Amino acid sequence: MAKTKTAFFCRNCGAKFAKWNGRCSSCGEWNTLDEEILSTNTQKTKFRSEPSSAKRIKDVEFSPGKRISLKNDELNRVLGGGLVEGSVVLLGGEPGIGKSTLLLQMAITLPNSNILYVSGEESEYQIRMRAERIGIKNESTYLLAETEIETIINVSEKIKPDILILDSIQTMRTAKIDSSPGTISQVRECASEIQQYSKLSGIPVFLIGHITKDGTIAGPKILEHIVDTVLQFEGDRHHGYRILRTLKNRFGSASELGIFEMQSNGLREVSNPSEILLSDREEGLPGTVVAANMEGVRPLLLEIQALVSPSPYGNPQRSANGFDQRRMSMLLAVLEKRSGMKMGINDVFLNVTGGIRVDDPAVDLAVATALASSYHDISVHSKICMAAEVGLSGEIRPVNKIEQRISEADKLGFHTIIISQNNFKGLSHKDFKIKILPASRLSDVWKQVFG
Ligand code: TYD
Ligand code: MG
Repeated sequence: MAKTKTAFFCRNCGAKFAKWNGRCSSCGEWNTLDEEILSTNTQKTKFRSEPSSAKRIKDVEFSPGKRISLKNDELNRVLGGGLVEGSVVLLGGEPGIGKSTLLLQMAITLPNSNILYVSGEESEYQIRMRAERIGIKNESTYLLAETEIETIINVSEKIKPDILILDSIQTMRTAKIDSSPGTISQVRECASEIQQYSKLSGIPVFLIGHITKDGTIAGPKILEHIVDTVLQFEGDRHHGYRILRTLKNRFGSASELGIFEMQSNGLREVSNPSEILLSDREEGLPGTVVAANMEGVRPLLLEIQALVSPSPYGNPQRSANGFDQRRMSMLLAVLEKRSGMKMGINDVFLNVTGGIRVDDPAVDLAVATALASSYHDISVHSKICMAAEVGLSGEIRPVNKIEQRISEADKLGFHTIIISQNNFKGLSHKDFKIKILPASRLSDVWKQVFG
């Protein structure tokens, strides 16, 4: 009997090797090579009916307006204004975060549409149960419990749906390859078959892909090159809020963001996120400060909470939730050196409320002020918010889109916003109701907020 052909694939970058190695020579990661069985069936199915030939750019069919508008504003927004025909969208996220719920909800609430929802994880009965929970508005949505890509494509050819949803790519397999579902070669092969099918038929496809916190499971990472759009669904499973981010989009901005709240009857769109994230605030607590953050093109006001307390064992702890811990260490060093706060002998904990992760540098000032507020045990007035970056010498640096940040804070009833002096000089109009305080050093801010 012929020996089964195998090869080694890197779990991180997908590179292929003939022999096992401790380190992937392509991406440099350690211990990421997995053995996989290669195809024994060399005959490849082809969807292409005619030979390819190069075309002049002006002869290429072009119809920019072909987008399907989904009955979900947040989803439309992250897709760049609706779902483009013939595109493949990957929806990645940790298990249990709500990916199936999001797409099933979209499928059963879009009126006058023909959607095929294929699940390799749940039976049709289970999907129906979940759909009942959410509320079925479009009763003609098709369900299919199937894992073989060829069968799915055949069924789809018969139904000719407007949208095809595959839940999840890790459970799908193609008959062309012998290895089991979820392995890199299966995932990659299935995705490229679906991508070809989508391009030829014009049917847009949603692929669901599971990732773990460290992104180790085969899938999304290697799929990013194949698909047109990559969305990531994230959030803290213990909080109700979920964020849908665009990581890549061939048809729109890659910095869009949608916010949802998981409820007992499905996901609710959160159209004004700032109000909700701030709604259950308590007044006058030391260590809490509001930051006027921007997520993509949307302003988002967030509460930053800090706790600075003496370290009992002489081995101070540092922990940050929703904020980069190295950035926090940098801010702590600035507070220590420029404002003389003894952070080194204290435990420091930082939290962004609502289970949201921020990486906008404009939250720096709010983080630094929350830390200082907890350190001094003096509260910052709850109607003050901030938007500025903090530099290594304690200088307050300007941030982008300052006017949007100011007007959002104004709209939400804050009476003061602290921004950088440089931003203040560049403001084209200053007739906001909210008081705008410019600052150039941390000491200016301390004077304003702590008196
Ligand atoms: P699910 O969509 O199955 O997650 P994923 O496909 O990303 O693995 O959602 C899982 C969680 O959502 C599950 O813990 C139950 C919860 N949920 C609700 O809270 N409300 C609902 O209406 C539904 C359908 C699910
Ligand atoms: Mg699921």
